[in-house]
Amino acid sequence: MRLILLGPPGAGKGTQAQRLVHAYNIVQLSTGDMLRAAVATGSPIGLRAKAVMEAGDLVSDDILIGMIACRVNEDDCRNGFILDGFPRTLAQAEALEGMLAEKSLTLDAVIEMKVDDALLIGRITGRYTCANCGAGYHDEILQPKVSGICDNCGRTDFNRRSDDNVEAVGTRLAAYHEQTAPLLPFYRAKGSLKTIDGMAEIDAVTKAMKAILDAG
Ligand code: AP5
Repeated sequence: MRLILLGPPGAGKGTQAQRLVHAYNIVQLSTGDMLRAAVATGSPIGLRAKAVMEAGDLVSDDILIGMIACRVNEDDCRNGFILDGFPRTLAQAEALEGMLAEKSLTLDAVIEMKVDDALLIGRITGRYTCANCGAGYHDEILQPKVSGICDNCGRTDFNRRSDDNVEAVGTRLAAYHEQTAPLLPFYRAKGSLKTIDGMAEIDAVTKAMKAILDAG
């Protein structure tokens, strides 16, 4: 199964991708996570991306397209993948079409997660993740079962992202509306776009996604 999760920052793409990975035995390809890993190791891509990401702008198409073109060729993608955060521009979407066509592959679904902008800032500024396994939490909405201990791996250290502040979120939202929202008519015209209510409870969103995916 190959699908794209499309939605503004904080829509819940990462939260849902983590659940779908387990349900369908496929991998999550988060370009944000890949870029943050590149920044952490100080690689040439990371050095180019760091300031752009902190400001909330989009990293250049050539970097992202190259990154995904390599990643989808890896063995663990053979059973399928969830694209979380890619494509984000029409140039990226067109490049993805080319990559898939070369391998005679198609997308099973493009799922738009619709959430009002007003909700997103609170979601993003309250978010944190386990420093060890990456499990996602929120100060109010999704806390670990035992305070301060990751449900998934039992570790006690957590991270907050440097672009999860009000100013950068404003820029990220503007980038979504200007550069990513044009992908909605692009995929609608291809008949692959499904839209779900990303403002529903987390479990209800997962259920809506599974209903789409299981319907084939
Ligand atoms: P990226 O890491 O992709 O960030 P993003 O798109 O801004 O998305 P987020 O990770 O912030 O949100 P999410 O939708 O995954 O929400 P989450 O599940 O965490 O990109 C970061 C940066 O990298 C970009 O700004 C750009 O610079 C660069 N970049 C990445 N890809 C690129 C590309 N293709 N091209 C160019 N540049 C690129 O949920 C958020 C919070 O809400 C969590 O706390 C969660 O618990 C909570 N939550 C989730 N669902 C619900 C719900 N249903 N109800 C209530 N709370 C919920």
